[in-house]
Amino acid sequence: MSDVVDLIMKDHREFERMLAQMESDPTSRATVLPVFATLLTAHSRAEENEVYPAASAADGADDVAHSQEEHVEADRLVERLQACDPDSAEFAELLAEVAEAVTHHLEEEEETVLPHLRERLDDDRLQELGEAFLTSREEHLGAGPGDITRAEVQQQARNMELEGTSGMTKDELQRKLLAEAESEE
Ligand SMILES: [Fe+2]
Repeated sequence: MSDVVDLIMKDHREFERMLAQMESDPTSRATVLPVFATLLTAHSRAEENEVYPAASAADGADDVAHSQEEHVEADRLVERLQACDPDSAEFAELLAEVAEAVTHHLEEEEETVLPHLRERLDDDRLQELGEAFLTSREEHLGAGPGDITRAEVQQQARNMELEGTSGMTKDELQRKLLAEAESEE
């Protein structure tokens, strides 16, 4: 009932639907964006905390590191979008950028990390991860991309296989992760 891959893909379709709605109907932007932002945040934190470590441990570390970088960049883009006036030309431009980045990320995850999980983990484990994903996702609903703890940023660093980050403050760590993500483009 709660296969982690099915749950993640279900969210992905919802992200695509909301992005398409905001792109085609500018009057929907002010109401859809907060829902999109919190669902994306909750989904991403749940993946990072529960799913990526499991995928990484099952010989998927390179794909996970890349996906994690894309999460860091998407969070930053969504924060910038939230700071924009939904009626401005800047919003429309940034929305197109968010849509391209997120769509690319979803496709890539569905081609790499998710099939890998299906291949490497048995059904019981996929169900167990699905439960853990749902619990974490629920805990993060209502949060935005900026509402992240130091422990979660440290988990992002582990997912990206970054060394030597244990003494860093949350801000230093976040700057390092973003710089790392942007240098990989
Ligand atoms: Fe993701």
